[in-house]
Amino acid sequence: MSSVVIMKDTIQIRKFTATDLDTLRHITVASFGGVALEQTLEERLGIWDQSRDWKARKADHIDEDCRANPDGIFVAELNGEIVGYITTRVDLINSRGRIPNMAVTEAARGMGLGRRLIHHALDYFREEGLKVAQIETMASNAIGQHLYPSCGFQEMERQVHYAMRL
Ligand SMILES: CC(C)(COP(=O)(O)OP(=O)(O)OC[C@H]1O[C@@H](n2cnc3c(N)ncnc32)[C@H](O)[C@@H]1OP(=O)(O)O)[C@@H](O)C(=O)NCCC(=O)NCCS
Repeated sequence: MSSVVIMKDTIQIRKFTATDLDTLRHITVASFGGVALEQTLEERLGIWDQSRDWKARKADHIDEDCRANPDGIFVAELNGEIVGYITTRVDLINSRGRIPNMAVTEAARGMGLGRRLIHHALDYFREEGLKVAQIETMASNAIGQHLYPSCGFQEMERQVHYAMRL
C-alpha cells in the first residue's frame, strides 16, 4: 500500500535583512505594472532620462524605504521563498505610522498574504505606541481599494497628481 504525504504550505512573516533588498526590488518591479504613478508618468510624458525608466524609479522607492526604516520592513516567505513584503515609516513625534509600499508576487496572490502583511505592520505600529496608521492607493488600484478598508482603514480623501515636461 502506498502512502501519499501532502506537504502543507508554510508561510512565515519575518523582519527584513539587508540581503533581501535585491529580491524586494525585483518583486516591486514585477508587481507594480498598472498601479504605479511612476509608470503613468512615463506613459503620459515619455521617458525623460534614457537611463531611468519607471521600473528603475519604482525600485528606488524600496531603497528609500530601507534607508528610512529597515526595522519596519517585513517579508513574507512561502515555503522559504520570499513572495511579498511591506514597508513602513514611524513618526514617533506625531504617533503615526505609514505604509508606503507593499507587494506580493502574482503567483502568491489571493492567499491572504497581503492582509497578513498589513496586520503585521499594524501590530508593529501598536508595539511602537502609535495611534494612527495611514496607507494610500491609486484610484486605478482596485485591489488596494478593496483590501485596505477590509483591514479597517477608512477612506479619508482623494489626491490628484499633476506633472509636466520641462
Ligand atoms: C495589493 C497586494 C499586495 C495584495 O496581495 P494579496 O496577497 O493578493 O492580498 P490578499 O490575498 O490578502 O487580499 C487580496 C484581496 O483583494 C481581492 N481582490 C483580488 N482582485 C481584486 C480586484 N480585481 N478587485 C477588487 N478586489 C480584488 C481579493 O478577493 C482579496 O480580498 P478578500 O480577502 O476580501 O477576498 C497585491 O495584489 C500586489 O502586490 N499588487 C501589486 C502592488 C500593489 O498594488 N501594492 C499596493 C499599493 S502600495
